[in-house]
Amino acid sequence: MDEAILYNPSLHSHLIPSLVSVHGTCITQPTYSIATFLPPLDQSTMQKWWEERAKEVVSGSRHIIMQTAANTSTGEEEVVGVVMLDKPQSQTVPHTAWVEKLLVLPEWRRKGITKRMMVRLEEVARKEGRTLLMLDTEKDSPAELVYPRLGYVRVGEVPRYMISPLDGSLKDSVWFYKELR
Ligand SMILES: CC(C)(COP(=O)(O)OP(=O)(O)OC[C@H]1O[C@@H](n2cnc3c(N)ncnc32)[C@H](O)[C@@H]1OP(=O)(O)O)[C@@H](O)C(=O)NCCC(=O)NCCS
Repeated sequence: MDEAILYNPSLHSHLIPSLVSVHGTCITQPTYSIATFLPPLDQSTMQKWWEERAKEVVSGSRHIIMQTAANTSTGEEEVVGVVMLDKPQSQTVPHTAWVEKLLVLPEWRRKGITKRMMVRLEEVARKEGRTLLMLDTEKDSPAELVYPRLGYVRVGEVPRYMISPLDGSLKDSVWFYKELR
């Protein structure tokens, strides 16, 4: 498997439908990730959403880190995992960035893809002086167990923070941070 790569708008715009597909699959298949959209998913809305994220890569406020692999039937390169680094402009917290949309296709999980993508994410974050990473995830989800294994420190919980795509119920979130040294 090749290294995790940074989305480059001049090279990778053909992969946007594949990003939409990973995103949609993670929402609609176990473990039913809470990730911005709720079923029934609208492909064109999600496509536009990813195009907006790609524009933020161009403007320099975001990185999209992707793991790609060849599709076993078509041989075509497709995205099997993604994570984003959102870098908001701020004079008071210029060293902070947000880790968003960590998503790996179900059949590619438990193979170290998240670990590889997060190493790449931390490399670029460090290089750009974003040494405090923040994120939130659903309480009692697998991701809650994954982040501490990657060195993230649990801050606490916010009750009834987000809506589950599974049954529309409100779920608690758990917040984490990691200081890069
Ligand atoms: C959470 C998720 C991103 C993990 O991705 P992954 O590629 O399978 O993770 P990795 O294989 O790189 O594993 C990273 C570490 O977490 C551990 N881990 C992975 N999945 C786990 C699980 N379900 N339960 C417990 N630990 C787990 C691994 O053992 C590894 O730790 P180790 O190296 O100390 O053994 C993936 O399950 C996923 O996409 N889930 C749905 C989307 C989601 O919930 N994203 C988080 C949104 S905030």
